[in-house]
Amino acid sequence: EHGLNTLEHQPQKIAAMEANWNTGPNVPLVLFALPDEAAKENKFEIAIPDGASLVLRHSTSGVVPGLNDYPGNHPPVFPVFWGFRVMVGTGILMLLVSWSAAFFLKRRHSLPKPLAMLMVPMALSGWLATLAGWYTTEIGRQPWLVTGVLKTADAVGPVAGSHVALTLATYLVLYVLLLIAYLGVLVHLALKAAKDGDSSPLPGVMNAAMSQPAAGE
Ligand code: HEM
Repeated sequence: EHGLNTLEHQPQKIAAMEANWNTGPNVPLVLFALPDEAAKENKFEIAIPDGASLVLRHSTSGVVPGLNDYPGNHPPVFPVFWGFRVMVGTGILMLLVSWSAAFFLKRRHSLPKPLAMLMVPMALSGWLATLAGWYTTEIGRQPWLVTGVLKTADAVGPVAGSHVALTLATYLVLYVLLLIAYLGVLVHLALKAAKDGDSSPLPGVMNAAMSQPAAGE
């Protein structure tokens, strides 16, 4: 639904997300490609035939907008195409990891070690997918701020570039500090649980599995 709304209001963003160069029917769903903006084509493309037409128009003969209809008026293709794939790929991975963890906890009351190890970097997956989604949305709307109405270049205010850079740097420093604090708390809790055993009362099936290390003591 979100994608169909974008198709109506920001067709050039959809064209970049799908790395589709020519408007037409039977547009494939590109799974992997290196979009080449100079040559206006995709290198090393792996695609599902008619996939984009099906997803966006619910018919294999559905017409999907192409980048070549928007010369000089479409966003940079590479970051939008890959931002979207990182977001969706991370989302699918989150589902797979959480569903398989729920399965193992229910059936075996413990997690296989590789899955438990994978869950450590997955702590940052929400952050990664959010950032990738945000990149897709904001880079994808360029060169427009309001598509067809106001260009980003025309909305530049009188604030000096150095001021903008200073604010950005302040935000960056603040968020790096918050990230360090967040990772610190996670590591602290994980070490504490590894040392004392985690006997915290968690709801439902989690309870039996998570308190297992303590049971052996
Ligand atoms: C798993 C499949 C997913 C699909 C199919 C999907 C689809 C979409 C679509 C169509 C957009 C709108 C792009 C636009 O028109 O500007 C979007 C934006 C976004 N997505 Fe996803 N997404 C998925 C997963 C995720 C996940 C797992 C997260 C974060 C945990 C996420 C975070 C975001 C964010 C933050 C935006 C930008 C919203 C905004 O600023 O308006 N997405 N996504």
